[in-house]
Amino acid sequence: MVSLPILSTAARRLEGKVALITGGSGGNGSSTAKLFCQHGAKVMIADIQDDLGHSICKDLGPTHASFIHCDVTNETDVKNAIDRSVAKHGKLDIMFNNAGILGIKKANNILENDKSQFEKILRVNVVGAFLGTKHAARVMIPARQGAIINTASVCSVMGGLAPHDYTCSKHALLGLTRNTAVELGKFGIPVNCVSPYAVPTPMPMEFFDMKDEDFNDAISTLKGVSLKAEDIAKAVLYLASDDSKYVSGHNLIVDGGFTVVNEVFQCSINRTPAFFIFIFYFLFIIYH
Ligand SMILES: NC(=O)c1ccc[n+]([C@@H]2O[C@H](COP(=O)([O-])OP(=O)(O)OC[C@H]3O[C@@H](n4cnc5c(N)ncnc54)[C@H](O)[C@@H]3O)[C@@H](O)[C@H]2O)c1
Repeated sequence: MVSLPILSTAARRLEGKVALITGGSGGNGSSTAKLFCQHGAKVMIADIQDDLGHSICKDLGPTHASFIHCDVTNETDVKNAIDRSVAKHGKLDIMFNNAGILGIKKANNILENDKSQFEKILRVNVVGAFLGTKHAARVMIPARQGAIINTASVCSVMGGLAPHDYTCSKHALLGLTRNTAVELGKFGIPVNCVSPYAVPTPMPMEFFDMKDEDFNDAISTLKGVSLKAEDIAKAVLYLASDDSKYVSGHNLIVDGGFTVVNEVFQCSINRTPAFFIFIFYFLFIIYH
């Protein structure tokens, strides 16, 4: 068993909290599980990759982490996972709806888009988070406390970055986050999402056929730093802890500024002064 470095009591931001993480056997989920445990939380990993999930929990240590098989598209599985967390630890403080799939490349072509494939992505990425939110709310509302976090993506706010099914699913997840934040806010339960840019986890590496080092060349505004699953975990930790107690309905985009730039315009920044004079007159004509 790998010993997990636990922080001092003063530094722990989730001391005594109980968290359920769907997709916890994967890249972002397992990094978050590890960070949560270091910060004093009891974590239950819910995933369909049983062997991997058990091995991650073994590394984290049985006092900190446990695994439950859970297909997020199956309501009984999701209900059981939440009930098991409550039975084992007496409560549920943090629900992290993180399980997700990217699908197949040809889903980017609407003519070749297969209805069943489209529905499959939405079932995992949207219905899964809906069920996680529903059953977490079932136990959090009577307790008048808890925090729900969904993993969306930069695809929640931009088109053209991924296949239609995935982009639709992440836009929908942002909608679910905002709508449930309104409802559950009445009970003091914040609902937020974290939206990563490309992180070198198995999902995009398989899909785009990329290697870890290829991600360093990915386009982002912030140069000289590369995004890792640990960075997503830190953003989730913020949303799960009291540090974000007044943050709800928020989409925390972790993208090095990727989504704030219009690349077409950015290319034009290096152009001649005549270009700027043209833009100035163009805008002047439009607004007068
Ligand atoms: N890696 C990226 O570049 C990136 C970027 C933006 C958003 N995301 C999102 O991050 C989340 C985690 O993805 P990741 O990058 O860690 O990929 P990953 O493939 O490493 O992990 C995804 C996990 O979800 C699990 N899963 C899939 N279907 C499931 C189901 N039906 N029930 C339960 N678990 C299921 C998988 O077994 C896997 O452990 C996803 O929601 C993904 O859309 C990832």
